[in-house]
Amino acid sequence: MKDILHELENRRAPARHGGGHPRIDPQHAKGKLTARERVELLLDEGSFEEFDMFVAHRCTDFGMAAERPAGDGVVTGWGTVNGRQVYVFSQDFTVMGGSVSETHAAKICKIMDMAIQNGAPVIGLNDSGGARIQEGVASLAAYGEVFQRNILASGVIPQISVIMGPCAGGAVYSPAMTDFIFMVRDSSYMFVTGPDVVKTVTNEVVTAEELGGASTHTRKSSVADGAFENDVEALIEVRRLVDYLPLNNQAKPPVRPFFDDPGRLEPSLDTLVPDNPNTPYDMKELILKVGDEGDFYEIQADFAKNIITGFIRLEGRTVGVVANQPMVLAGCLDIDASRKAARFVRFCDAFEIPILTFVDVPGFLPGTGQEYNGIIKHGAKLLFAYGEATVPKVTVLTRKTYGGAYVVMSSKHLRGDFNYAWPTAEVAVMGAKGAVEILYRSELGDADKIGARTKDYEDRFANPFVAAEKGFIDEVIMPQSTRKRVCRAFASLRNKKLTNPWKKHDNIPL
Ligand code: HXC
Repeated sequence: MKDILHELENRRAPARHGGGHPRIDPQHAKGKLTARERVELLLDEGSFEEFDMFVAHRCTDFGMAAERPAGDGVVTGWGTVNGRQVYVFSQDFTVMGGSVSETHAAKICKIMDMAIQNGAPVIGLNDSGGARIQEGVASLAAYGEVFQRNILASGVIPQISVIMGPCAGGAVYSPAMTDFIFMVRDSSYMFVTGPDVVKTVTNEVVTAEELGGASTHTRKSSVADGAFENDVEALIEVRRLVDYLPLNNQAKPPVRPFFDDPGRLEPSLDTLVPDNPNTPYDMKELILKVGDEGDFYEIQADFAKNIITGFIRLEGRTVGVVANQPMVLAGCLDIDASRKAARFVRFCDAFEIPILTFVDVPGFLPGTGQEYNGIIKHGAKLLFAYGEATVPKVTVLTRKTYGGAYVVMSSKHLRGDFNYAWPTAEVAVMGAKGAVEILYRSELGDADKIGARTKDYEDRFANPFVAAEKGFIDEVIMPQSTRKRVCRAFASLRNKKLTNPWKKHDNIPL
């Protein structure tokens, strides 16, 4: 009997050892942790329950029958993050470069199926040389199985990808379909075709880092939602994100203990908006002063900085924040900002996370660059996302909100539940200067007349009261009371029920 018990341990030990020291040492030398070390850091201590530790590939070509490592290059299972269940897979680069075989993919599919059935997020730690070359088309088919599950799980359970090594070729499309992608600086990259193919086809010379490193994907392509210095920081931050999210689309986001008075006044907000309408101010200050304990989890912080997206908590409950940032491009909506915010709004709506919107937007960014690249369709994404969202929506206008952008930014007309304005807000078709130049074109040569017209327009429209008289603004509030008002608004909406007409799915302008 004792021998049989030992046999289990004899089999477990090599499986736990992955590719062994000759391959683990180079992994560590690159500043990367092993697949198991990552799982240990991601999950609560002692919570990991492994599946399929002894699964081995079935390939016999290219002498593969002689090498059948237990686990087949991926560690899978479930555990908890601060006591809440998550499923995880962690590719093991020390075993055949973490390459994806039929059985490797089947392990991933098994935990994805369980995650969907049991309503818990999937976190994928990606570190792989891609399709296992020796298995050929079987490996491609296996990827297809993973993709299909990514699609079915979308909007049902949160899916988070962390890129912690190579991720190339069609393999990128599994993370691409998940809700969030995070990368590790200097040790991870993602691209559809690598630098050699790029050189052959387009004659461009580019390094892997330039083509698909963390900086490229967080600043230029927006493929990634965030980048971290090393594996440890990335995994700690993923834990932090999981804390904000519900386990599935039927569950409410978690309620965390909070130590911040919901009625807290912030007198400094009364002077946040400068006297000069053209002077920028930092919208992040407002977000930090409104949220519980000043805690803010920003998504896509380095991309389209003219709009801010991320999570705060109010009275311990998760709220998604979208805010124009006057410090960048005067807070204009452009293609990148519209896409970034639309995706965020749709995530929040899919997972019943209420949305708080802070508005200071002069309009859409003009120019051929924007028009030729389809600002019409991209701007419509954000409009569509807000309009279809049925979660509680609270909006605060801090300063200007002009034209179509006014309607887009979670206005009353898109079923905003509470639309507040600070006394400094202006709701108008456009700014005074532009309006007067159109209305009084014949008087443009007369500076005095135009000055008087501009002042008249400002007096009439540069305030929130015209909109408030029509009920488009529910209440004009003191800036210092924003946290209190917003907390009360969301508290009153906790039982909100709103459903859209039945449809197979919508046809958002992609
Ligand atoms: C089988 C692989 C492998 C793969 C790496 N290995 N990638 N084995 N299939 N795809 C093995 C190596 O043979 C090596 O084994 C070990 O993993 C470590 O690889 P190294 O090359 O020594 O590591 P490194 O120098 O760090 O380079 C990593 C790498 C390189 C850049 C990822 O291995 C590489 O270019 N691999 C091939 C990448 C690729 O073309 N994959 C297919 C992409 S297309 P030993 O035994 O020597 O240690 C794709 C399609 C998906 O994935 C489509 C989905 C629909």
